[in-house]
Amino acid sequence: MARLPLLAGNWKMNLDHVEATGVVQKLAWSLADYHYDKEKAEAAVIVPFTDIRTVQLLIEGDKLPIAYGAQDVSVHDAGAYTGEVDAQMLAKLSCAYVTVGHSERREYHGETDEIINAKAKKVIEYGMTPIICVGEKLEIRREGTHVPFVLAQIDGVLAGLTAEQVGALVIAYEPVWAIGTGEVATPADAQEVCGAIRVRVSELLGADAAAKVRIQYGGSVKSSNVVDIMAQPDVDGALVGGAALDPAEFARIVTYYAR
Ligand code: PGA
Repeated sequence: MARLPLLAGNWKMNLDHVEATGVVQKLAWSLADYHYDKEKAEAAVIVPFTDIRTVQLLIEGDKLPIAYGAQDVSVHDAGAYTGEVDAQMLAKLSCAYVTVGHSERREYHGETDEIINAKAKKVIEYGMTPIICVGEKLEIRREGTHVPFVLAQIDGVLAGLTAEQVGALVIAYEPVWAIGTGEVATPADAQEVCGAIRVRVSELLGADAAAKVRIQYGGSVKSSNVVDIMAQPDVDGALVGGAALDPAEFARIVTYYAR
């Protein structure tokens, strides 16, 4: 069964709502220039909370072939949680995706697999798709224990989810040492861990969920390396940081299949 590749641009804390308009417009023009075919790959932008309404109006108004979503969500529903944004608010803005457990959230905000699991459940409860991030730091990679490390994260972040729910979500494998460093995992490194994740999903939830779940690679993905990474059998897309801020470059990444 074919999994539709998902190329998602994680803007992180970049681009205000005025800049977002320009970048999304340019992305749409660049995708058209590269004859983007949404049957071959799905393009998404994962934007700061303050950009979502603007991006929604632009994408819906101009019927642009771009999905959008948020970078984080509260584990709580509405209430006395100053500064937080709940899943219902994001669903009301028609977000398709919400990234949860990005390594920067784990590192700077103390997010654990348990918190990430609770966030993923909220995203699913409100009808959106979580992009659940996992990945090892450099020390773990050097020790050679990256596969069991990432699989333990998978067990934690998927706890209590059904086979149907897991089949519909997205997992992003992002080795922390490759994020924003220019250091890319080799296609074989990406395949090793993405393949192991799929086997684990099969063990936990069955072959059907494993065949359906989309597994992205993330970490210094660019148009110059995306083709080889996407050629790996268990890599179903990319979560792209820095290169997604340049709309023409991101459009080349999304249309990797044409090269
Ligand atoms: P990068 O970021 O592409 O800039 O390495 C990837 C990410 O953090 O999602």
